[in-house]
Amino acid sequence: MCGIVGAIGANDFTPFLLAGLKTLEYRGYDSAGLAVLDASGALCRVRAKGRVSELQARVAQLGISGAVGIAHTRWATHGIPAEHNAHPHVSGGLAVVHNGIIENYEALRGQLQALGYVFSSDTDTETIAHLLRACLCEDATALGFAGPAPDLFTAVRRAVLFLQGAYALAVMREEEPDCLVVAREGSPLMLGLGERGHFAASDASALVSVTRRMIYLENGDVARLRGTGVELVDRQGQAVVREVVQSTLSADAVELGDYRHFMQKEIFEQPQALGNTLEMIGGAARLQPGIFGVEASEIFAQVEAVLILACGTSSYAGQVARYWIEAVAGLPCTVEIASEYRYRHSVPNPQQLVVVISQSGETADTLAALHHAKAQGHAYTLSICNVPESAMVRATRLRFITRAGPEIGVASTKAFTAQLAALFLLTLSLAKVQGRLSLETEQTFLAELRHLPVAVENVLALEPQIKRWSQRFASKQHALFLGRGHHYPIALEGALKLKEISYIHAEGYPAGELKHGPLALVDAQMPVIVVAPNDALLDKLKANMQEVHARGGELYVFADGGTGVVQSDGVNVLRLPEHYGLLSPVLHVVALQLLAYHVALVKGTDVDKPRNLAKSVTVE
Ligand code: AGP
Repeated sequence: MCGIVGAIGANDFTPFLLAGLKTLEYRGYDSAGLAVLDASGALCRVRAKGRVSELQARVAQLGISGAVGIAHTRWATHGIPAEHNAHPHVSGGLAVVHNGIIENYEALRGQLQALGYVFSSDTDTETIAHLLRACLCEDATALGFAGPAPDLFTAVRRAVLFLQGAYALAVMREEEPDCLVVAREGSPLMLGLGERGHFAASDASALVSVTRRMIYLENGDVARLRGTGVELVDRQGQAVVREVVQSTLSADAVELGDYRHFMQKEIFEQPQALGNTLEMIGGAARLQPGIFGVEASEIFAQVEAVLILACGTSSYAGQVARYWIEAVAGLPCTVEIASEYRYRHSVPNPQQLVVVISQSGETADTLAALHHAKAQGHAYTLSICNVPESAMVRATRLRFITRAGPEIGVASTKAFTAQLAALFLLTLSLAKVQGRLSLETEQTFLAELRHLPVAVENVLALEPQIKRWSQRFASKQHALFLGRGHHYPIALEGALKLKEISYIHAEGYPAGELKHGPLALVDAQMPVIVVAPNDALLDKLKANMQEVHARGGELYVFADGGTGVVQSDGVNVLRLPEHYGLLSPVLHVVALQLLAYHVALVKGTDVDKPRNLAKSVTVE
């Protein structure tokens, strides 16, 4: 949520800053801005409402350049998307960009206004700009310091003592043209060590064009970057040396290539993402629970239950896993929406394995739910995450990194199916360690997992038919998605995909629940999408479809072979290539992703950057 890029060196870094913002735009896209110190040493700031392309046009028009600069793309939290709320925010000769939320900004704003500082935005970030300026002048005494901070580095270290909440900051100052200062608490921030200068960004993808050598800042860290080097202090103000990591992120992974949208690219990358995620089982005859961490076998043997915490699509992956874990591993499993769990008075069970699922590993609610669980005495924690360096991965004892590659489209697709693959491996590992998995069953499931990429490929081949269906949705205002058993969460996910990118109001229901209320909505204008695998609940599902048909609802059925669901008036059937047992949700969801994608295309929405949303929700 929001993106930061910063650079210092000897070259003009304006093109790099703009390119970095373009790469990070998926994290927030309602306004953007940058500040550089120009050749005369003056601070130049340019901001624009809307996309980075608007900013680019303004920068080109003004002919701005500079070898020191910071830039930001915004997802509005405090204050509407507007130029005056866009970052950087300035005070005196300094400029600040910020990701996260300063929770006590109102109190700070009042304090600074009393000292005479005038605010020109509605943001929490402007508070930081004025606070830094106050730390650097005589006002420092009113803040409790003996005198003004001697430099920006010291001022930032002082200012962060006042800030409550989450932040990643990058700051520059006219009077100190040879440095940039950055700080991190809660929101991700990394440094890039390059040949031609030093860099900072909230996401590695913005840096790979200039360097692969990166330092991931820890919470509480403050760093000063110069063209010639970086220095770092930790929360205690002690100089620290952090590991320099060689990023393996490929530049192609964040490029669109021949695809029209990242979502389309990511839907079609699923066979590869699944193959990569499942690579560690390779051709092995037996599953090694150690893929979840060195302590996995020991911990899995102790656990009596599983508690899954996640948000959005990741929580639906958790809901599918609940069916698997209870059916295969015989362990009670609950799934909680992280933003509810963290504020609920729950009864902790230390013998529970707490599993957090997150594509980004930085979702604020999931991270807070994990910390809440730990504070309640949960010692067995596991993260399933797509970003190895993320805060979530670092905060759990066990971890499994899905290898879906960077997901740029706001609508999660390949990360979801990779999470399902990881959760199926978890199910089997738990069952195995708990003595509930026969050798024969283990080998059957491993073979099915290995075939999964090919099975997904076969579903992707259905695109032309799904595309034809999508035309019929363009005029619809609402849609219902039905599923039963472990396909009920797939109905929920199908509805979420459709609503977030096509803006059609969609709801997912367990099919058996229809007659308890939602059936009242069904008429000729209501498309009802049915996930129809050939499983034990098929006859029940068919009865639910009859309930819709009898009331004039238009059915769109994604049916496995052998289900006997046939095309008729008001019943549209799309045949899935094969029934896939417990892993069938992975196939059905791919068909629903394609449906949402093509409906959005017909509706002409911004598929990768749907209105009001952003990737990685790093605020509560
Ligand atoms: C999915 O399409 C969403 N945009 C959203 O629900 C997402 O899954 C949710 O915000 C959780 O994100 P995470 O997996 O990065 O934690």
